[in-house]
Amino acid sequence: MSVIALHGIRGGTGTTSVTAALAWALSQLGEKVLAIDLSAANLLRLHFAMPYDSPRGWATAERAGSGWEHGAMRYNSRLDFLPFGQLSGAEEGLVSCDWQNNLTKLRNTNVYDWILLDVPVGEPLRAAQAISMADHALILLQADSQSHVRLHQQPLPVNCHYLVNQFAPVSQLQQDILLLWQQTLPQLLPFTLHRDEAMAESLAGKQPVGELHPQSKSSQDIITLANWCLINLRSMPK
Ligand SMILES: Nc1ncnc2c1ncn2[C@@H]1O[C@H](COP(=O)(O)OP(=O)(O)OP(=O)(O)O)[C@@H](O)[C@H]1O
Ligand SMILES: [Mg+2]
Repeated sequence: MSVIALHGIRGGTGTTSVTAALAWALSQLGEKVLAIDLSAANLLRLHFAMPYDSPRGWATAERAGSGWEHGAMRYNSRLDFLPFGQLSGAEEGLVSCDWQNNLTKLRNTNVYDWILLDVPVGEPLRAAQAISMADHALILLQADSQSHVRLHQQPLPVNCHYLVNQFAPVSQLQQDILLLWQQTLPQLLPFTLHRDEAMAESLAGKQPVGELHPQSKSSQDIITLANWCLINLRSMPK
């Protein structure tokens, strides 16, 4: 089992959309996947058609004393997801969960090939902790000047991979920044995820992009990403 933490270099880079899309694409390639939402914003679930009003999730289950596992949901026979759950701001502060221990339990069950963690921006300590528990980290970037400054200015996990999302080849500046990163960032993935209306519609349609728009550019991009993960990040059976 491989645990991948997906994390934006800043908010809004597309981490949640890409987590849902990658989870679905891996499941279509025959892998067993669990996607876990570590963000109290609780949005990942909406990419998996969960009713908006349902408060179900790992944090709500923990808060109710029934255990985080009881928040899990099944999307299809190879894809499960664990929403954060809907809590009030005051309640959020009271929930703590030992994810290191939970991941060890999940590893021991041998049920999943992949666990994807949607790691939120804005809580640096929690994010660092989540990334340190993962086997691999994918840091999402947008090819703009702000991301470039942040790459040099803010602490970043070591041994992470960088993935450009929302790439628009019509932009000269984006092309230039991508070229610069290709020359200077050894851990940059050798492909980008393009800016595409199909990806933007994923949340509106409450489905991962590959399922909602199978013929789209984003769907092809995500299949490339899923295959790259299979080749490069898959843990070898012991
Ligand atoms: N490749 C893409 N092309 C077009 N739109 C995209 C793409 N990726 C993400 N988006 C859009 O960008 C917005 C932010 O996406 P998302 O919520 O996945 O980002 P996030 O990094 O998880 O944000 P947050 O930091 O708030 O958790 C959404 O409207 C989403 O539809
Ligand atoms: Mg998000």
